Parts: sequence; structure tokens; C-alpha cells
Amino acid sequence: MKKVISVVGARPNFMKIAPIHRAFKKYSDSIQHLICHTGQHYDEKMSKVFFEDLGLPKPDFYLGVGSGSHAEQTANVMMKFEKVLLDEKPDMILVVGDVNSTIACSLTAAKLHIKVVHVEAGLRSGDRRMPEEVNRVLTDSISDFLFVTEKSGIENLKHEGVSDDKVFFTGNVMIDSLAYFLPKASESQIHDQFDLEKGKYVLVTLHRPSNVDSKEQLIKLIKLLNTMAEKRKVLFPIHPRTKNNLGNFGLLETMNKNLILTEPIGYLDFLALTSNAELILTDSGGIQEESTYLGIQCITLRTSTERPITVEVGTNQLLGTDLEKAEKAALDVLNGNLKKGTIPELWDGKAAERITEILNEKLHA
Ligand code: UD1
Repeated sequence: MKKVISVVGARPNFMKIAPIHRAFKKYSDSIQHLICHTGQHYDEKMSKVFFEDLGLPKPDFYLGVGSGSHAEQTANVMMKFEKVLLDEKPDMILVVGDVNSTIACSLTAAKLHIKVVHVEAGLRSGDRRMPEEVNRVLTDSISDFLFVTEKSGIENLKHEGVSDDKVFFTGNVMIDSLAYFLPKASESQIHDQFDLEKGKYVLVTLHRPSNVDSKEQLIKLIKLLNTMAEKRKVLFPIHPRTKNNLGNFGLLETMNKNLILTEPIGYLDFLALTSNAELILTDSGGIQEESTYLGIQCITLRTSTERPITVEVGTNQLLGTDLEKAEKAALDVLNGNLKKGTIPELWDGKAAERITEILNEKLHA
């Protein structure tokens, strides 16, 4: 029997591990698949709700790390995960995405000579000021098997000298979750809850430090959101980082009344909101991909994207932090001027099946 431990830490990890966990069940005679939650995200609405929505089992290990500076959080995960690895002696660990838990766990395993699998490898924004970019580059450099969601990932890894035999283009596990849960999400009552007309509202998510940690940038963003709120209802589920900063800067009162601020929203309800939005304004990585798959108009308020396929073939527009340009593009969308898109190659709901098939071969080679 081989043992694999998959790691989840922060909100965007849960929907990536859910299809992998399901796909591993096919090999349950010869592979034991366990889940370790680092506790990087711990609020009920940032974590527990996702386990329930995604049908994930209670994690086998919970490290309870919580918040802290980058060094504190990363070091705490490493110290606690090392104990799990020493006790459990897995054959492989599997990490997803680019959060602090991703690099912390892969680094710990690599030092113990345990094979590291990175799912969603090779993405690069080219911006090393993003903590996620540092996490991506470092995780990829110590991973043994790298699973890539879009072709830019293959090129990036080649450029960094990763040998071809470690890299596999298998598609996008986050899209596996989306395709799997879309029918269930369509039963959501979230539109009634906020009195939203399907296809006639703007959905907003903002949490990147570059957008929400400076008062000046936040003021500009609120101006943009207020303009949107004059045209449509705007729903803005607020990430704890953004909420804390809006409060600290005294900006909560400056928002238009049509702008509905709410707590973070669970996976199924949020999927219902994404799939019926007229326009999404975001700085999230995952939402750029989800909107492209769904053919929903998306404006990304960042200067770079590690997911260029969403701009090249999808419905995403990357409009930097020049918010006048973003406002013009957003109003264009509301006036019916839409960006056409197609679904990227291999985003077909079967990525986790391809990944586990390859891992099964590698584990029993
Ligand atoms: C992290 C990831 C980011 C991802 C985002 C998704 C890193 C470096 N960043 O950013 O890539 O897009 O998650 O949400 O790993 N907090 C709570 N409750 C929680 C979690 C956090 O209140 O359950 C608050 C804390 O005040 C904390 C702050 O949010 O200090 C930031 O949390 P943290 O996990 O450090 O980073 P995120 O901004 O969430």
C-alpha cells in the first residue's frame, strides 16, 4: 500500500483537492490518500463551509497554524508538517496552487526526501513582489512531478530548466470542481437572498495586498465600485484582509448604497453568483479561470496575470491598476460590448483523473 498526503491551507486549495480526492478512490486498494489542513485559513466561512460544500472528509491532520507574518506562517507550517511526515512516512505529498502552505509543505517534504507533486505548476506572473510568485517558483524548483493547467506553464518550466519528463499537461482541477458542482450550484437561493436579478449584477472580489493594503488604491477602487453601483446592483463579498483595511482606513462609510457588502460566501453559492453575473471585477487568480470557463465577462484589476490563457482565449481583460481604463471597459460591458471567449484546452472536468492515473503509475513503477 502506498501513502499520499495532500495539503490544503487556504480557501483556493479546497476546490482543487476535492476532485483529486475523489479520483484517488479508484485506486483505494493500493493507494491510501490522506488530507492535511494546515489551518492557514481557519474562519468558518473561509474553510469549514468549503469542506461541507465540496463533500470533503474531515482532514486526517489539522495543523492549526493560523495567521501571522509570511515567515511566521511558513515556519509554523513547516515545523508542524515535519512531525506529520516523520510519523506517517508517506511515499509522496501533493500540494496545489501557490499559497504559503504550498511552499512550506513542499520544502519540508523535499528535505526529508519525500517525493513532491505540484498541481497547478508553471504559472508565472513575472512579478516577484507577489508572495504567490515566490511560492510558485520555489515550489516548482523542488517538485518531482509538475502538473500544468495551461501551455504557458510548460514554456515557463522549460525556461527555468525543469526537465521535460517531470512535467505533465493535464488540465485544470479547479475546473473539475466547477463542472462537477455546477448543477448543484444552480439550486442555490443566493440571488433571492440579495434580491439580485440573474444576468444583471456586478460581482466583485478584491483581496490582493497590492490593491487593498494601501489607502490610496482602496479609495480609487471604491470610486470605481461606486460608479458601477450607479448602473447595477453590485455584490461585494469581503475577504477578511480587505474588511480589516477598509475599517482601519475609515472607508466603509464612503460606499454607494447599491453596493452590497457581505461576508465571504461558500463555494456553491459563489459558483451560482459567478455563473449568473453580468460582469465580474476581481483580483483573484481562480476567478479569472472560472469566468473564462463559464463565458462570463471578467475584468482583472491587476497589472499581470499568471494565467494568460484567460486573456488570450477567454473572457478575461487584464486592466492593470489604471482604474479609468477599467471603468471604461466595465461600462462597455454593461452596454453590451462583450469579449468573446472559448474554453482552454483540457479544461474538461477530467484533470484529476489524468493526474491520479499518472501518479498511480509512478507510485507503483
Ligand atoms: C492567501 C494567499 C493568497 C490567496 C488567498 C485567498 C498566501 C501568501 N496568500 O491570502 O494567495 O489568494 O489566501 O483567500 O498564502 N484572516 C482571517 N480569517 C481567516 C484567514 C485569514 O480573518 O480564516 C485574516 C487575517 O487577519 C490574516 C489575513 O486575513 O492576517 C490574511 O490572511 P493570509 O492567509 O495571511 O493571506 P490571504 O490574504 O488570505
